[in-house]
Amino acid sequence: MIIARSIDELRQALSPSQRPAFVPTMGNLHDGHIQLVARAKPLGDCTVVSIFVNRLQFLPHEDFDSYPRTWEADCAKLQAAGCDVVFAPRETDLYPEPQTFKVHADPALGDILEGAFRPGFFTGVSTVVMKLFTAVFAGKVQGVAVFGKKDYQQLMVIRQMVRQFALPIEVLGVETCRAEDGLALSSRNGYLSEPERNQALQLSMALRELGRDALAAAEALTRHLPALEAKAMEGLRQSGWQPDYLTVRRRSDLQAPQAGDALVVLGAAKLGATRLIDNFEI
Ligand code: PAF
Repeated sequence: MIIARSIDELRQALSPSQRPAFVPTMGNLHDGHIQLVARAKPLGDCTVVSIFVNRLQFLPHEDFDSYPRTWEADCAKLQAAGCDVVFAPRETDLYPEPQTFKVHADPALGDILEGAFRPGFFTGVSTVVMKLFTAVFAGKVQGVAVFGKKDYQQLMVIRQMVRQFALPIEVLGVETCRAEDGLALSSRNGYLSEPERNQALQLSMALRELGRDALAAAEALTRHLPALEAKAMEGLRQSGWQPDYLTVRRRSDLQAPQAGDALVVLGAAKLGATRLIDNFEI
């Protein structure tokens, strides 16, 4: 397994004829990430995993400094998973000067839900993913990039970016990896205390219930949805959470749905100091 600490080192490691299968991460790898690597591996002839905690996608009060960095353990997991190249650029290599030139997601997609509660988040994500894509895929005829569906809106933003910039990259979305009890795996789960971890499943349970209620509303979905969403939020509040949103959207563009649309239910809520997100296609 080659470790590339700069864009130049990465480009030296990749031969021009290779089709990379790429998994971008911020490290602190768990089974969900390793599942993405396993899905990526057969899709290319060189599996590249990036580890980079991207300052641009954190708000000043968020956890950029404390975000878990577990380099040795990550490398051991990637080696065991058969990764060919770890791309772990230094911040000064990826951002040698202030990154004033940025990629802004379409506001209709990037400024709602996560983007409304984390302003600038999708600009930070799109900008770093564009840089990572140009580092990994420049000069390639085709490549594939693999993202988890847990960050559902992120996956949609990246798909739209790839489409609108005509990047020669196939984007594969992989189902969320869950713990035995159903909790979506996330690096931020590590922030939960033991009692919080025992309570953490309430978010996905509330989302599933909201999804069931939305399906039961059938033709009357539009009329009933605000009350159903408010009930789901209130239920979580009663259990001690601070929900940002629990909502049912149409899958195609995450806007308010009409009866008959394919739906996704999405939520974000804080339990103590930890903000969790989850979603289900219903
Ligand atoms: O999903 C993540 O881990 C990050 O948002 C990503 C895509 C690696 C960009 O920093």
